[in-house]
Amino acid sequence: MNEQIRYEIKNSKTLCGPFTSFDLEKAPDIPQYLFEEWFQSALDNDVHEPQSMTLSSVDKHGFPDSRVLILKDIDEDGWYFATSSNSKKGEQLRNNPNVSLCFYWSKVGRQIRIRGKAMEMGKKLSTLDFMKRGTVAKAIALIERQAKY
Ligand SMILES: Cc1cc2nc3c(=O)[nH]c(=O)nc-3n(C[C@H](O)[C@H](O)[C@H](O)COP(=O)(O)O)c2cc1C
Repeated sequence: MNEQIRYEIKNSKTLCGPFTSFDLEKAPDIPQYLFEEWFQSALDNDVHEPQSMTLSSVDKHGFPDSRVLILKDIDEDGWYFATSSNSKKGEQLRNNPNVSLCFYWSKVGRQIRIRGKAMEMGKKLSTLDFMKRGTVAKAIALIERQAKY
């Protein structure tokens, strides 16, 4: 192993505030409203890519799997992401819809953890999402589909 890297891992600083405090008593009952407040604060503080999040799912052997995705939307029903249903995660979610999301915004010292069940949005919304993408993203999605069938 690289000793310098091991040294850096052990000695790198994390959570170097000062950060804004959070009063749990004043948190809104609906988690999405708190998420909105915190997202706004991340924007105000120029957090880099606050919409990037880690989605964890579970494979058919019960092993967790995680990857970074982009948050596409949020409403009273939940948090939305877009992915190919033919991907590894697509297969895992069909088999076991239990998921967690994790956002980490180091600049404001905040982490958000969400647990729930993933649900398919249906063809109409998926098509709308596809149509909104740029040409390159559309081409990648089509190539992915071709490669699978
Ligand atoms: C910043 C960033 C954003 C990403 N956004 C997405 C996304 O919105 N949807 C997606 O399917 N994959 C996205 N990816 C790729 C995934 O992290 C992952 O590599 C891919 O979806 C395959 O995952 P799977 O094999 O577990 O299905 C993103 C990767 C990065 C680094």
